[in-house]
Amino acid sequence: MMLRSVVAGCGAYLPDRIVTNDELARQVDTSDEWILQRTGIRQRHVAADGEMTSDLALVAGRRALDAAGMDAREIDLIVVATATPDETFPATATRVQSALGMRHGAAFDVQAVCTGFIYALNIADNFIRVGQMKSALVIGAETFSRILDWNDRTTCVLFGDGAGAVVLRAHEGEGTTADRGILSNHIHSDGQHHDLLYVDGGPSSTGTVGHLRMCGQEVFRHAVKNMAEVLKEALDATGLTADDIDLLVPHQANRRILDSTAHKLKIDMNKIVVTVDKHANTSAASIPLALAQAVAEGRVKQGDLLAMEAMGGGFTWGASLIRW
Ligand code: ACO
Repeated sequence: MMLRSVVAGCGAYLPDRIVTNDELARQVDTSDEWILQRTGIRQRHVAADGEMTSDLALVAGRRALDAAGMDAREIDLIVVATATPDETFPATATRVQSALGMRHGAAFDVQAVCTGFIYALNIADNFIRVGQMKSALVIGAETFSRILDWNDRTTCVLFGDGAGAVVLRAHEGEGTTADRGILSNHIHSDGQHHDLLYVDGGPSSTGTVGHLRMCGQEVFRHAVKNMAEVLKEALDATGLTADDIDLLVPHQANRRILDSTAHKLKIDMNKIVVTVDKHANTSAASIPLALAQAVAEGRVKQGDLLAMEAMGGGFTWGASLIRW
């Protein structure tokens, strides 16, 4: 017998305010046509003044608990993946823990930018597999609107705010790829690409929050290559093939990245969850937001093989395979 982490429930939250491409075109020199053609993005959600990453994370977390039919008292661990924490410290996860009325268990943040959710899932899954925790609330939550340079048209059009969450629960299986739960996680990083995607501030460097800076074309090239490679690595490790994938839930950075990765892996586009048009790039929140949408739409059936992959600042990249 072997312990596996089963996804017991999903939840999502998007701030009320929607900013369309046309609205952005009134602020910077851009157009709906350019943004849509180059990225597939039509709109993004933006947090209200005073609405923090932990507020978004809390609603998504509560919804995931409700979907799992579980109470916060039954949760042993909270991991929040975010690059936009409420404060430098303490961890945003501890604010969520407190707001859920929890005074037990452990809560901490994970920083891997757009790959944050895969990292957080991997970490929580490991705690469950070794038997240290029986359940975990894994949340991806971001308020990228706070770190964007709203005068830089090359970056401000690409991102949005939001949160998504999953509840993981320990489940005993045979240890085969037919068992329910997370089958395999694969994470990577390579710090030499720092200058291609970073935030030019922080407590130890400038003492300011800073703004996101990016070499878009270079990031695009690495993103397609790394995401295709790491998904292949996950499939090879489990003896599965791209044909076995029922649904691919990729990080939502850019429609063209999704298309190119799908083409590289020969995965049919109708097996891919696309939310980038409505959410833009919500960094660590994008995969759990897309997953919650797919589940709500009835696109995920028990026994399905789900694949997730992401790439982000660092660079970091990773993939997970889940038998639903
Ligand atoms: N509106 C109008 N024109 C623009 C805009 C804009 N918002 N942004 C850039 N342009 C202009 C540029 O200035 C340039 O003009 P020039 O030729 O006169 O110099 C022209 O459009 C073409 O710019 P490119 O950078 O070559 O455009 P490209 O086709 O590469 O698209 C984009 C840019 C969308 C950023 C693309 O490179 C991309 O998506 N890269 C991936 C970046 C990404 O997703 N990062 C997210 C974080 S990492 C991750 O999540 C994977």
